[in-house]
Amino acid sequence: MKYGYFDQTNREYVIDRIDVPVSWTNYIGVKDMCGVFNHTAGGYLFYKSPEFHRVTRFRPNGVPMDRPGHYVYVRDDDTGDYWTLSWQPVGKSLDSAKYICRHGLSYIKYQCEYSGIWGEETLFIPLEDPAEIWDVKLRNHSDRKRRLSVFGYAEFSFHRIQSDNQNFQMSLYCAGSSFQDGVIETDLFYEAGGYQYFTADGGSDDSQYFDCLRDVFIGAYRTETNPIAVERGFCSGSSELGGNHCGALRRVVELEPGQEKRLIFLLGEGNRQAGKEMRSKYCAPGFSQADSAFKALGNFWNEKLEKLQISTPHDGMNAMINTWTLYQAEINVMFSRFASFIEVGGRTGLGYRDTSQDAMMVPHSNPKKSRSRLVELLKGLTSDGYGLHLFSPEWFEKQTEAAFKSPTVVPRPQKSDLIHGLNDACADDALWLIPSIVEFIRETGELSFAEEKFPYADTFDPETGGGTSETVFDHMKKILDFSAREIGPHGICKGLRADWNDCLNLGGGESAMVSFLHHWALVHFCALGRRLGKDISKYEGMMVKVRESCERELWNGSWYTRGFTSSGRAIGSPENKEGKVHMESNTWAVLSGAASPEHGKSAMDAVDEFLYTPYGLKLCDPAFSEPDDEVGFVTRVYKGLKENAAIFSHPNPWAWAAETMLGRGDRAMKFYDALCPYNQNDQIEVRKAEPYMYCQFVVGPDHSAFGRAHHPFMTGSAGWSYFAATRFMLGLRPDFDNLIVDPCIPSSWPSFNVRRVWRDAVYDITVENPKGVSKGVVECKVNGEPVKCNSKSAEIPVQSPGTKNHVTVVMG
Ligand code: GLC
Repeated sequence: MKYGYFDQTNREYVIDRIDVPVSWTNYIGVKDMCGVFNHTAGGYLFYKSPEFHRVTRFRPNGVPMDRPGHYVYVRDDDTGDYWTLSWQPVGKSLDSAKYICRHGLSYIKYQCEYSGIWGEETLFIPLEDPAEIWDVKLRNHSDRKRRLSVFGYAEFSFHRIQSDNQNFQMSLYCAGSSFQDGVIETDLFYEAGGYQYFTADGGSDDSQYFDCLRDVFIGAYRTETNPIAVERGFCSGSSELGGNHCGALRRVVELEPGQEKRLIFLLGEGNRQAGKEMRSKYCAPGFSQADSAFKALGNFWNEKLEKLQISTPHDGMNAMINTWTLYQAEINVMFSRFASFIEVGGRTGLGYRDTSQDAMMVPHSNPKKSRSRLVELLKGLTSDGYGLHLFSPEWFEKQTEAAFKSPTVVPRPQKSDLIHGLNDACADDALWLIPSIVEFIRETGELSFAEEKFPYADTFDPETGGGTSETVFDHMKKILDFSAREIGPHGICKGLRADWNDCLNLGGGESAMVSFLHHWALVHFCALGRRLGKDISKYEGMMVKVRESCERELWNGSWYTRGFTSSGRAIGSPENKEGKVHMESNTWAVLSGAASPEHGKSAMDAVDEFLYTPYGLKLCDPAFSEPDDEVGFVTRVYKGLKENAAIFSHPNPWAWAAETMLGRGDRAMKFYDALCPYNQNDQIEVRKAEPYMYCQFVVGPDHSAFGRAHHPFMTGSAGWSYFAATRFMLGLRPDFDNLIVDPCIPSSWPSFNVRRVWRDAVYDITVENPKGVSKGVVECKVNGEPVKCNSKSAEIPVQSPGTKNHVTVVMG
């Protein structure tokens, strides 16, 4: 069953059957003002922080589903009939109303045809201004003149998610609203500068024009489905100091047959004055600024996407890589995973491992943000060499006075409380940073980044903004030394609090995954060290030692053991009844370069044999059925869900990459295809979730909901999918001085093309596969000139900025 399609030309996912089983979401805003909304305009807006600076309120996980939102109501003033331009909240019968939702890149269009009126509400946020534009168009398709009342409505938040959800005894009396000069202003009296506004073009001073009080607009014993103001046909000019506030404005629109009119509502950050300024900018007759802001947003995304465009025989891969997967990866970097309908903003900051991985995925499309994330992470590293698992970058900026002071005592953490100890360190966290830094340098060529100095988190002095500073290269050494030091009785890295798998605590035991990650980080570090002409002999020695310990202790004759509990029990080994085979140890054995090809092949064969399902690879098999705290929380999650043998998406691309390292392009594609959301576009009765997004996990076969996908958007799966597909399957890898072409594709592919912009030069690459192989490059020419090419890959030297280069590659 399908509910929509990929519109490749407009880069939109079009939901043309609107009653999708769960919310299908999208993100707007790419800077300070941001929002997350579903296919029926339910969702919320925030400014900088979804935890501390909500603009509009959201009632997550509720009934009715995912409300409130940013709604436009239309009322026929001749009949009294009313509806919304998004299907909900009024929810007209789909027998008489046609609804479409177009999820585009940082915008959403809600379209509706009902009772002879076509309407559209476009939500987007201009690149430069913290204001949400609701661009509304209405056209009369009937043959009679129509007199309509059009209401824009949104419910304001008390800014802090806690204040919206608990202990109203202060917040209810410290927020006020007022209407003047056509602008609704809400004032969070207890916060300096705590203002929001709602306004529109062509306002009026009439009391029927506005309502600032939610409960007056909606009415008692009613919901957003049937607000009294809409039913009645006008607002009542309400405002008050104290209470729950909304922005509600009523426009009167008359339409002759065939006539179209456009109006704009504006919801923004700032006080009445800011609202007036934004209104004169975006609502001036002709709305040209709104049009150019929308266009600029399109250009913003085009520029990013144009850095890498592919054309392969695989339509799904083309659609995902050319648009959706990069979009998802970028959104993760921008939003740092903490605003969705699942992560409703109650936990913010940067997760060390998540952010390190996210930053690695977009250095080509977002070098500035990648770099600033890397710097934030470097400052969140302790001088012991472990990262702070969850931290706010502001902690490591020079102190400024905090604006919010609640009358209720909320203890303010001391600096020492912010720097957690070894007990809370996750063994993998900081290791991810090393490849991210190296990949950033490979992409940008900015070798000098390695010599820049930053302070360590535990030495930082917020008063002066200083601390013990060392170079990026030194930070990397600290991380590697930490992992070399923190090993257990088998010589394998300790798991500490946890490794990548948050739920597999291994009770303080040892983690194969961390040792393999250590190896991977060493490979990257040594490559950089060599390029910089540094003495890296210590780390080359370390790498050999890690590899030897892994082979000796983790190879179990069939695949790679996942680790050891504190009492020395092996996990993920043939002797286990449950949790016998795990993704992390086997994929990372190969991906890290530590496994021999023979062991690597049989490890990945075990992945295929035990973990493959038609919806992707399970995290482990068999699922755990008995709580066992020595193994971890994973044993207390139902079978087939989350880390307990669900198809956890994030590690799936590790397997694609690992297979390409073994030269098995058909296997890599089999795995890619299984997880690919695009491929499930017509299986929504099973998948339920968005087919344009990777989800954190897909329910595994041990559960009755096998195949159902959960937690879209905010997952590292997209970044990894992009990384594995482009760098390993299509095989385009920037190095310090060369662009490496090393594809590993299905043998049935006759050819493919990639257009890559790298260091300001364009590489138009055609790869031919006349012999139907999966791997191996026999010839490569750049602008007709042969370049260095071993039987495995080709190396294209970096070309001058501004040039367009024609590259032909022959596999064989
Ligand atoms: C969640 C966490 C991530 C972790 C993963 C697996 O996605 O955000 O840090 O690695 O679960 O447990």
